[in-house]
Amino acid sequence: MDVSEDERSAGSAADPVCTAQLSTVANGQPVTADIACHTLLIDFLREEVGVRSARRSCDVQLCGSCSVLVDGLPVSSCCYLAVDVDKKSVLTAEGLRGLEDADPIYTALENAFVEHAAVQCGYCTPGFMVTLWFLIEGGHLTPGTTHEELRTLLKGNLCRCTGYEPILAAASAAVGALAGARGDGA
Ligand code: FES
Ligand code: FES
Repeated sequence: MDVSEDERSAGSAADPVCTAQLSTVANGQPVTADIACHTLLIDFLREEVGVRSARRSCDVQLCGSCSVLVDGLPVSSCCYLAVDVDKKSVLTAEGLRGLEDADPIYTALENAFVEHAAVQCGYCTPGFMVTLWFLIEGGHLTPGTTHEELRTLLKGNLCRCTGYEPILAAASAAVGALAGARGDGA
């Protein structure tokens, strides 16, 4: 990140303007942009990258509807500065979905969410998909993971309408399907 030395010349002493040049890879595409230093990652992704899956809801890192992966780790983009993804990679649900042909995890999740009717309003769904993709890819979910354990693993993602049971069932089904496809006894 290059912070401009004349960054404050555009603002008054009472209203300083800090700008920075950001270079990142968002959903596989290199992106370079001049942004205000206080720009939040969710705003950068929605306004500069065209992302729609990261959604603002609580704005205080409670609900997970804005979840994205930064260098493979889930973060709440509503409370994460865009400058902190400089020289890092960002993956959103769109990016994961783009991997569909090559990566079985997103496909298994998508199929299971449809099969178990785990989407009602759908506002929270991309955040759940991002978190579940991370948990499965990292080996944190197994066919033996109980719904009680799943609730704990998913405590950073809130769904306000489905009561969670269909989401938990879908997550378990996806893990089972993936294990079955690998032939490791789901
Ligand atoms: S909008 Fe970011 S955690 Fe709720
Ligand atoms: S599907 Fe409506 S809040 Fe999650």
